[in-house]
Amino acid sequence: MKEQRQTMLNTNPPQSPPGTPILASGFIRWYQMILALAITTTLSAQSPIPGWYNPAHDAKIDSLLSLMTLEEKVGQMTLFTSDWAVTGPTLREGYQDDIKAGKVGAIFNAHTADYNRKLQRMAVEETRLGIPLIFGYDVIHGYRTIFPVPLGETASWNLEAAEESARIAAIEAASAGLHWTFAPMVDIARDPRWGRIMEGAGEDVFLGSEMAKARVKGFQGEDLSDPFTVIACAKHFAAYGAAQAGRDYHTVDVSDRVLREIYLPPFEAALDAGVCTYMTSFNEVDGVPASGSHYLLTEILREEWGFDGFVVTDYTSINEMIDHGVAADLKDAAQLAVEAGVDMDMQGAAFYDHLVELANEGEVPHSRIDNAVRNVLRMKFALGLFDDPYKYSNEARQTENIFTTEHREAARRIARESMVLLQNENDILPLLSKINRLALIGPLADSQADMLGAWHGAGRAEDCVSLRTGLQAALGSGVEIDYQQGTTVAEEDRSGFDAAIKAARKADAIVVAAGENWWMSGEAASRTSIEIPGVQSELIQELAKLGKPLVVVLFNGRPLAFPELTELPIAILEAWHPGTEGGHAIADILMGKYNPSGKLPITFPRSVGQIPIFYYAKNTGRPMDPKDKYTSKYLDESNAPLYPFGYGLSYTNFDYSEPTINRSTINRNQSVTISVEVTNSGQMAGTEIVQLYLQDMVGSVTRPVRELKGFDRIELAPGQSQTVTFTLDNEDLSFYRRDMSFGSELGQFRAYVGPHSDATTFVEFKLQ
Ligand code: NOJ
Repeated sequence: MKEQRQTMLNTNPPQSPPGTPILASGFIRWYQMILALAITTTLSAQSPIPGWYNPAHDAKIDSLLSLMTLEEKVGQMTLFTSDWAVTGPTLREGYQDDIKAGKVGAIFNAHTADYNRKLQRMAVEETRLGIPLIFGYDVIHGYRTIFPVPLGETASWNLEAAEESARIAAIEAASAGLHWTFAPMVDIARDPRWGRIMEGAGEDVFLGSEMAKARVKGFQGEDLSDPFTVIACAKHFAAYGAAQAGRDYHTVDVSDRVLREIYLPPFEAALDAGVCTYMTSFNEVDGVPASGSHYLLTEILREEWGFDGFVVTDYTSINEMIDHGVAADLKDAAQLAVEAGVDMDMQGAAFYDHLVELANEGEVPHSRIDNAVRNVLRMKFALGLFDDPYKYSNEARQTENIFTTEHREAARRIARESMVLLQNENDILPLLSKINRLALIGPLADSQADMLGAWHGAGRAEDCVSLRTGLQAALGSGVEIDYQQGTTVAEEDRSGFDAAIKAARKADAIVVAAGENWWMSGEAASRTSIEIPGVQSELIQELAKLGKPLVVVLFNGRPLAFPELTELPIAILEAWHPGTEGGHAIADILMGKYNPSGKLPITFPRSVGQIPIFYYAKNTGRPMDPKDKYTSKYLDESNAPLYPFGYGLSYTNFDYSEPTINRSTINRNQSVTISVEVTNSGQMAGTEIVQLYLQDMVGSVTRPVRELKGFDRIELAPGQSQTVTFTLDNEDLSFYRRDMSFGSELGQFRAYVGPHSDATTFVEFKLQ
């Protein structure tokens, strides 16, 4: 397995031809692997294998290791924050002295070319062995040019776009002295109360895995020593998204089946794409905090998957094992973590304070420490830091490559693609008819900061285009925009209602910007209510009484529940926190310059009481029957979500034919192809995301009612039709069977094809 992975990483597998649907196809993977093997065999005969794993570095690493003291080795396993701490207390002061003493191997939260050059000089010129530092930072959805929050970007279902935004983030970060991003977050998340839901790809395993690969590829590029790439970090390993009650840092309790079926696949996909580092999660898994879990960090990551990069903890998560109650003190916690397989301690100083002593006492084998250091040094070599430790710290490059026009254009394009049209009663949108006067209402309408979203790196509010600025630019100076805040985001403040209603009365159309502030999602930002905060919804309902065309633009980092609004004759556009160019991107959609194409990467509940609610559900023994009280349902709420996973409207209509299948029975060596013809029957060109869901009708264990197994993003001119074909093979039909072996089971399958996860048309086939 290990050999295969390295080989896969170091070559460019053939790309699927354009228009090939994205499929979890084992066949394609095999085909690529065989080709890749062939290519590498030829290559490796002549030159060292390119890419991040370069066996030629191993000899250098070994000779370096032989020169290092135990203290210096532990230094390589230590990551401290610079003075620019963002997520918690800085445990140690005087880190510059630690760098000079060779007691730190990596620094995070330090950025900009000159600052990092200064720190690097301390490591390279003032320590005994001159081992360069790695600089890390949370570059999550952009460094200075900010893209939509990852959940929003996932709504584009555009893997090239996700790769592109990660690539731009990498170019900017690497030009600001950085080598390493703590991204992508690949945690599957199904609880909108959890603030960090904004940082991932939503609820689905397949879409989440595809996004994980695209983002890793975008950050890391083809060659890590290229100073326009950074190493990626798949986080938080593992199951952080399953925090009970959606409360951040809370306990996780998942079975091994759920862990492997739901939470691990995106992490493994990240490895398939060559991810260089993993970050442990704060939570426990089966009673063991992830930073002390040998099962996760060694048995799964190293032994099953063959990972060769390094594992970093999350912020002070070794120390937190004391509070978890599995370690008596920090020394105990350090031992647990290093034995489990942690290579680098983020900020906790547990290794820094105790590892030398633990090794000297014979409590921790020197070989484990050597391995950890080897894993870290391998990355420093791969980044080219031993050739030129300053190559990422070049002021000229920094000026040239950050916040460029090209990057901003990409941010606008990707933001447009991420937005989801949820409702468009009476075709209110696009606002093509002549508007002389527009009422722009809402506490988020003129906010630049709230475009950014949480985890916005070096993004600046003053760089951002607010909705007000974007709309004014699109409408031109001839159209008057009467802006009224109306209320605040979260308070019960109705003092601005009258002015807002007065402005709306005089206008031809009303646009209301509502939702959450940027800081209401992200780390430590869980909410027990997922309604639109404050009295914003009440204001919208008052404005709707005027009977004018009314568009609600929602800004949020999590699904919100607003069933009261969906009953109004209004339009609703989900804009997420759209990034630097948000205002322009929204205006492009409202004015019809771009036909919305996003689809929800997560279910929107009707109320908080339905949580957890996701499309990938089990049937239960008593599926909901409205006529039978004793079936699985609520007394006071429907089982149906407000909007299902995969849902999103367009300004045009897409008609689906009945799906067809090329055969009704297959064996394990065969595949089926399922086709559907999609026609743009409206007046405007548009992009449709065609989705395929599978249901295994009878299994040795219960199976979800449907699972996404493929999608295709197609562009159609008015009147144009296209046949979309999906291929399913044995791997697509496989799952963790009752004995936990991974494979398929003979029997009947159903494949639904349609515009979202509630698609009703299907074909059936049998595996025999
Ligand atoms: C804590 C967060 O959980 C993690 O995602 C982040 O990368 C680190 N802090 C560093 O900022």
